[in-house]
Amino acid sequence: MSRDQKFFDMYSLVIGVIAVVALIFFVVAMKISDLTQGVYTRDTAEFKAEVAERIRPVGQVYLPGEEHQAAAPKVETTVEPEPVATALTGPQVYNAACNACHGTGAGGAPVVGDVDAWSARIAQGIDVLKDHAINGFSGEAMTPMLPKGGRPDLSDQEVSEAVEYMVSESQ
Ligand code: HEC
Repeated sequence: MSRDQKFFDMYSLVIGVIAVVALIFFVVAMKISDLTQGVYTRDTAEFKAEVAERIRPVGQVYLPGEEHQAAAPKVETTVEPEPVATALTGPQVYNAACNACHGTGAGGAPVVGDVDAWSARIAQGIDVLKDHAINGFSGEAMTPMLPKGGRPDLSDQEVSEAVEYMVSESQ
């Protein structure tokens, strides 16, 4: 065998091995990109929504009464946090709106911390107490419990938290 022939055989072998390795790399890379981009990115709802947003038509026709689709998500995010930010906690509501009567017993109001005055009321259940605090209640005391203690600006949630605080301090 001549030296040229020997060299040619070796050369072809090396080229062949490199070609096979390159093919393996190619197939593995395709598989990995299918798994990552295909499953975790291109098929996700977020990705599809973003594409839909980017390719949506510039002009849209709205009929009276129809919602403005494009602006809808932004409106939702700005509106939501507001009530949470301004809501008062139970003790804050109690001090601002309930303490005047329930701290002193004015008009026969059950004093917070007086376990005897509260035990029968607490026995009605927390939901009944919340209902009475929100909607008003007239029992055996000289004066009635006004709806929300006369503070209609408080939310039902705020009054409920004040009731929970009052009950927790009186048992
Ligand atoms: C103007 C006085 C006054 C204020 C202010 C007031 N209350 Fe009362 N509350 C009363 C009186 C009087 C009663 C007792 C009514 C009865 O038993 O006849 C009462 C009773 C209650 C009861 C017991 C109801 C039951 O079923 O026994 C709860 C709970 C209550 N108040 C919660 C509150 C909360 C919460 C606030 C503040 C948001 C508040 N009150 C503010 C006067 C007041």
